[in-house]
Amino acid sequence: MIFRAFGLVFFLLIHMMSKALVAHLLGVEYDNKVLMDRYPTKVLRMKKSLDNSVKKALKMVFKEDSAEGRKALRHFVKEVNILSKLNHPHIVIVDSVATLPKFNCILMPYYDGGNLTQILPYLNWHVSDHYLVQLCSALTYLRWKNIVHRDVKTDNVLLNTNHHIVLADFGLSDVLPPGQSMIKHIKGTIYYMAPEQSNSVPYDGFKSDMFALGVILWCMIMRMDVILFKPEQPLVEIVKSTTSLSPIDSNILCGLLEMNPDERWSITTLVNSLSGFPRFATKVQPFKERGLL
Ligand SMILES: Nc1ncnc2c1ncn2[C@@H]1O[C@H](COP(=O)(O)OP(=O)(O)OP(=O)(O)O)[C@@H](O)[C@H]1O
Ligand SMILES: [Mg+2]
Repeated sequence: MIFRAFGLVFFLLIHMMSKALVAHLLGVEYDNKVLMDRYPTKVLRMKKSLDNSVKKALKMVFKEDSAEGRKALRHFVKEVNILSKLNHPHIVIVDSVATLPKFNCILMPYYDGGNLTQILPYLNWHVSDHYLVQLCSALTYLRWKNIVHRDVKTDNVLLNTNHHIVLADFGLSDVLPPGQSMIKHIKGTIYYMAPEQSNSVPYDGFKSDMFALGVILWCMIMRMDVILFKPEQPLVEIVKSTTSLSPIDSNILCGLLEMNPDERWSITTLVNSLSGFPRFATKVQPFKERGLL
């Protein structure tokens, strides 16, 4: 009984210490909103202690001696390592990283528009074209850095209210050696996986990220989460039989969702194609002028 009570007090003390440490180390306090809670990972909205109007997001990965806990820790370390190498307007920013008694955490700006999955039903083509160009810019940068994301999906695209988006969640990403594009292990989210990922042979990681981008584009055009739709045939077949699609959308979708990775569009082919379509050219041009495409 005494031991139990002591255990509870100890737990509460550590808990309070963690909270106080976060406030002390990172200069933020909990802002009464849980953005995601899937143990051992939790994302909380925070506010800056000295200026409550500045919001932050705290991604916490609880220290847990279990297979799940060890996996989450590996993803955390990978995410921190990779994000520390990146600096791009359409890739999530890390403000600080901390290790506390109960959890490791990343503090980042708070993207107040939620994630892309949440706003799919409200999208219009003008906005989704804009998002596609911003994602192209992020993926062009990653290609240049030889980084494969490996979990490109609508949940991992965060938004600001002014239609600015960032690619987030680099826990599955890999930095490949120069000149290499082939990867082995299967990672990612099922409905975003390219067909070649189901064979147990190495595949081109950049081309599988492009397939996932095609799934995002399909979700944006159809205004539907692919995970709810659960396609029973290859998406490219669905695209070919959807007569309501514009020829340009159909062309881009077929290029990205192509089953054969050798024929699938690379990020360079996609950007060149977009530049050639008047609908996209005006959106691509400002990125080119800023050296972002
Ligand atoms: N900086 C942020 N601002 C606003 N919301 C955020 C932020 N970071 C994360 N989120 C919210 O938390 C969710 C999960 O974040 P993230 O993808 O980084 O965690 P995860 O554990 O890797 O998730 P999953 O396993 O689902 O891929 C995001 O989809 C988003 O809704
Ligand atoms: Mg995620």
